[in-house]
Amino acid sequence: MADAGDTAAEVAAIRDLWTRANREYGDAHAARAWAADDITWGIFNVPEQQLRVLGDVRSLDVVELGCGTAYFCAWLAKRGARPTGVDLTAAQLATARRCQQRSGIVFPLIEADAGDVPLPSGSFDLAVSECGASLWCDPARWLPEAARLLRPAGRLVFHTVSVLAAVCSPEPPGPARRELQRPQREARRLVTAEGGTQFHPGHGEWIAILRASGFAVDDLREVYAPPDATDHPYYQLATADWARRWPVEEIWTAHLER
Ligand SMILES: C[S@@+](CC[C@H](N)C(=O)[O-])C[C@H]1O[C@@H](n2cnc3c(N)ncnc32)[C@H](O)[C@@H]1O
Repeated sequence: MADAGDTAAEVAAIRDLWTRANREYGDAHAARAWAADDITWGIFNVPEQQLRVLGDVRSLDVVELGCGTAYFCAWLAKRGARPTGVDLTAAQLATARRCQQRSGIVFPLIEADAGDVPLPSGSFDLAVSECGASLWCDPARWLPEAARLLRPAGRLVFHTVSVLAAVCSPEPPGPARRELQRPQREARRLVTAEGGTQFHPGHGEWIAILRASGFAVDDLREVYAPPDATDHPYYQLATADWARRWPVEEIWTAHLER
């Protein structure tokens, strides 16, 4: 495993990055996402109906770690779940509150680090993260915290950038290439050009940290772009053509063994 790094400095840099991103497109993107009826995953909007990773969320207490503008929480609330969103960037949560006021879909939003959430242990049935803590927080910090927040046999579903997309991403940043661009060991803890640190453990390391945190792995879904996908207007992660050939993102599902 790579060095632990300076967690406080990393967290501050991520907060700055997402405060800037929120200023640029936070409200516009959030309004569109909150208005959507279907749950989709990733930059190419792969439908949950196709992937079926969440299961029935009715009446479940759900915590989203790194909820951003909280549209994923809103989608879950529309399906009868009781979500709580956790994010460390105040500006993202302010956007989420404006969306709550407009839509009337209201749930708790907590400003906190996913590695240290001020909520009691055993409060949730399901923990989710959609390129939130799952991408931007050291898994050695947030996975044990997810385990603490879950009830016995609680489920975890998280979505992140694939390790393959990470090792094919060039510097300076641009869409993933067809050739490897960096050693996989360096991708584990990757400082982005915008200044935030992303975490891309290899699959073996994900499994090791999940198990050490008390989870049993249920599934790993590799997410490709659908046949009719077009390039994303601003996320440069990969072109639709690349993502039709290689998995651009991945979704892990696990449950607590206790
Ligand atoms: C790409 S957004 C994903 C969230 C959501 N799906 C969205 O698109 O709005 C990343 C979010 O993760 C949050 N985040 C990053 N690291 C975090 C941490 N350690 N604890 C809590 N939130 C974190 C950021 O503040 C940002 O709002």
